[in-house]
Amino acid sequence: MKLKALLIITIISAGLLGCQEDEPKSGSDNQGSETELDDKQQASQDPKEGEGQDEDGENENKETDKSGESEDENDEGKEGIVTVDNPESLQVLVNKQRKLPDGYEPPDLTAPDVPFYFEEDLEKRYMRETAASALEDLFRGAEQAGLDLVAASGYRSYERQKQIYQQNVESRGQEEADKFSARPGTSEHQTGLAMDVTSAEVAFALEQTFKQTDEGQWLADNAHNYGFIIRYPEGKSDITGYSYEPWHLRYVGKDIAEEIYNQDITLEEYFD
Ligand code: DAL
Ligand code: ZN
Repeated sequence: MKLKALLIITIISAGLLGCQEDEPKSGSDNQGSETELDDKQQASQDPKEGEGQDEDGENENKETDKSGESEDENDEGKEGIVTVDNPESLQVLVNKQRKLPDGYEPPDLTAPDVPFYFEEDLEKRYMRETAASALEDLFRGAEQAGLDLVAASGYRSYERQKQIYQQNVESRGQEEADKFSARPGTSEHQTGLAMDVTSAEVAFALEQTFKQTDEGQWLADNAHNYGFIIRYPEGKSDITGYSYEPWHLRYVGKDIAEEIYNQDITLEEYFD
């Protein structure tokens, strides 16, 4: 895989993808793409030093999540949004109705040893330690199946998500942007538990056709074995609030991931 990863980096360095990553494609069936600013705009945003690993258990967290919200006086009455009170839980539920506390930065961010489609040490290379280790296992599993996954975007700070969201609103309009781009404070990427993955077959884009690639298929069938779920499944946007994203992996731990996979439900339904 190292040779292939090198080849991928070489291709990208040659500028075939241009300077802007994750450019959403226009088209009716492809509204679900994640857009980010170019790397230069992110280069100054370094991840925080780790503060120790979260040790919350899954069952305990299921309990916590059911009551894991508090009324934030800044958000009270604002479209029914609550602030989660367990942001460091590996099973935290973050969505349009459940935001992270103001200024939240996850602990123990680390860079998983997997191929990325960029070379720089950007914050999006990072994940929470447990999720990073699980992602390495997942990439090894894909490699054993003869597949080449490429990581695209992990941790995003509040500020970076704000830039991304604003850019999407400017380019697509707010109503459209809200279908695929989280408002700052409500993105799973800010938890450090999410990673977008892609493959050469779709030119490393984050687009719905990824589902049809061997890598996308394998992910859909196997991610749960490594503790990940496809967080925004097809046909569930009325529940998740977002269009289908076959590339967006969320770490929840093996037990919950397996249950969600077997029952074909979303994280919202799991906690409901
Ligand atoms: N694309 C997902 C919803 C995000 O922006 O976090
Ligand atoms: Zn994502």
